[in-house]
Amino acid sequence: MSTHDTSLKHLNTFSVEAQAAQIITATCSEHLTQAWHLAQKNHQPLLLLGEGSNVLFLGNFDGIVAVNRLKGIEITQTDSEWLLHVGAGENWHQLVCFALDNNIAGLENLALIPGCVGSAPIQNIGAYGIELRSLCDYVDLLNLDSGEVLRLSAIDCLFGYRESIFKHAYREGYAIIAVGLRLAKQWQPKLTYGDLIRLDAATVTPRQIFDAVCAMRRSKLPDPAKTGNAGSFYKNPIVDAKRVNALLAEYPNMPVYPQADGNVKLAAGWLVEKAGLKGFKIGGAAVHQQQALVLINQDNATSQDVVSLARHVRDQVAEKFAVWLEPEVRFIAAQGEVNAVEALS
Ligand code: FAD
Ligand code: EPU
Repeated sequence: MSTHDTSLKHLNTFSVEAQAAQIITATCSEHLTQAWHLAQKNHQPLLLLGEGSNVLFLGNFDGIVAVNRLKGIEITQTDSEWLLHVGAGENWHQLVCFALDNNIAGLENLALIPGCVGSAPIQNIGAYGIELRSLCDYVDLLNLDSGEVLRLSAIDCLFGYRESIFKHAYREGYAIIAVGLRLAKQWQPKLTYGDLIRLDAATVTPRQIFDAVCAMRRSKLPDPAKTGNAGSFYKNPIVDAKRVNALLAEYPNMPVYPQADGNVKLAAGWLVEKAGLKGFKIGGAAVHQQQALVLINQDNATSQDVVSLARHVRDQVAEKFAVWLEPEVRFIAAQGEVNAVEALS
């Protein structure tokens, strides 16, 4: 377990300045339980971090940050499937590349998503027609107090759109230490989303899908190494049929994604753009020009700039469309996570 300087700027992709009381890097489960017990002894909060690509620090964090760097990829197989057991601190995109290099297909639609493998189940990462839940076999979860490890099957994880049990019952006092993935050897391309529909299912290769996904993402999403951001700032809102019909009567070209339960998912980026907010700035924070769902740190933004902008965007979209956006990004205050909707209200 190593201790660092206490700046969190390089540990959040928004690149906002914030300090922690202490930052440690955990390379094994024992480091995580030690950090938990140290925090308990000091009456401090403990925050687990992967690569900080889905968090916004609202100010300094008055506790210990444990950066998850538990490594290792083990591959086994059955006649029909590849089974990957992956340490939670592995980088997600590097795992996608590693799988492709080893002729293991199935992860290519999820290329270029920042962050750690262990964070992927928390919001059930998804992009270009696939969510983690369709590939997840199990998640290994460490009880930080007892040191006991629980293995949750994919069903137990209660995955939903940007949702899982790790945001609720297992949010405090537990760390994800490994993820099991199950990938069919009989590969079926998923070509339902965006430019992927132009590819030919009969001839397409996993590498071509990977390349197409990377190209689409690079054309829209800012690279956090150059421009601070945390991806989509808000979730796409899910509304009932009555609301969607009222909106469609006024905006017939509005994108809609019908859900299995009869409700309809709207494109938050479209709503933000149609509210006239592309490029809108408060302080150093701005709405991204290429993708209005992404808020960026354009010019040394403070977290207060980002919060003010996020509140303005939410209020303007509500005023125009009567739809209230909810942040996807997790808001971290001095004592730990706070409710992001309340923070913007
Ligand atoms: P962090 O931000 O470090 O942590 C996220 C939350 O999980 C925090 O609350 C943290 O306390 C908790 N946590 C972290 N590690 C653990 C652990 N081991 N055990 C328990 N709790 C833990 N997401 C998508 O779903 N689809 C996308 O297409 C997508 N595109 C993105 C594009 C960009 C440019 C960016 C910046 C982000 C994007 N995201 C996307 C969001 C982000 O990549 C994912 O949410 C990712 O899984 C976060 O990983 P992380 O390691 O950075 O998590
Ligand atoms: N749109 C606009 N203007 C914009 C942005 C989008 O009109 O500024 C329209 C697009 O033209 C399209 C629709 O909105 O018709 C959806 O846009 P896009 O395909 O870019 O996807 P998204 O809904 O904005 C979601 C995820 C992304 C994921 C992409 C690709 C959420 C909150 N976001 O974005 O995930 O990469 O789909 O599957 O579900 C993330 O979670 O951080 C993230 C980047």
